[in-house]
Amino acid sequence: MPAAGKKVLLMHKLTRQVRFSINPFLPEESKGFNSYASEPAGEGLSIFFELSVELSGEVEPATGFVVNIVDIDRAVREFVVPIFARRIKEDFRLGKHINLFGIAELLRSCWGQLVDKFDAARMSKLTLKLNPFREVAVDGEDCRMLYFSEKFEFAATHRLWNEDFSDERNLELFGKCANPAGHGHNYVVEVTVKVPAEKSSLRISDFERIVDEEIISVLDHKNLNAEIAEFGKTNPTVENIVVFAWERIVGKFEEAALHCITVWETDKTYCSYYG
Ligand code: NI
Repeated sequence: MPAAGKKVLLMHKLTRQVRFSINPFLPEESKGFNSYASEPAGEGLSIFFELSVELSGEVEPATGFVVNIVDIDRAVREFVVPIFARRIKEDFRLGKHINLFGIAELLRSCWGQLVDKFDAARMSKLTLKLNPFREVAVDGEDCRMLYFSEKFEFAATHRLWNEDFSDERNLELFGKCANPAGHGHNYVVEVTVKVPAEKSSLRISDFERIVDEEIISVLDHKNLNAEIAEFGKTNPTVENIVVFAWERIVGKFEEAALHCITVWETDKTYCSYYG
């Protein structure tokens, strides 16, 4: 309990997604009138981005805001979109490929532009979605690091049961999950690695190959209890699967450190593990 009369400070983290598109070949971006889809809107085939700005701070009583989202949108469109547009148009003109290091440079430039734009709040994280299943982020803890995340999927069957318990106890604990013939899930696995932003030489294709070889190919279309030795006696719950996945890949990336794995069993049930 806080001491009587002491003001309790409540810290909020507000996140705003700002969507924009860049057409590398058009001199002018089409402005766009639907920020839900993207603004600028992109004309024809364009590159779509979604930048999430996380701001930490206190709620201002008069407005109920940490920061007015209109100010976040305005700052991103004024300062971030031109950074992306300039770099993409220039590099496309030169036929240059933008790798993860290039993306890190862009994000760090955006950080530098945005960091002093929100008086009331501290910018704590910037996350750029490259596609619906892949994102890169920098945070306020250590701006020299870059976080790269990607989602994978596998389908498997499992059964939750403990031989040491009576049948009644098992059915009471595990319910439908104790079905003797098992049941299936379409699992989603998100792996996040941390790389130094200054020399992020991580090749995404190497990262994907390792996750695929060590986790996805091992578990996909398997009966987890019967075919995965680790789950012979241990229940293949989402909590245990995430640890299994961690142990399979920790230390395997040459250029990156494993940061976090999240496994979704359904949209409603998922577990994250940080080692
Ligand atoms: Ni299940």
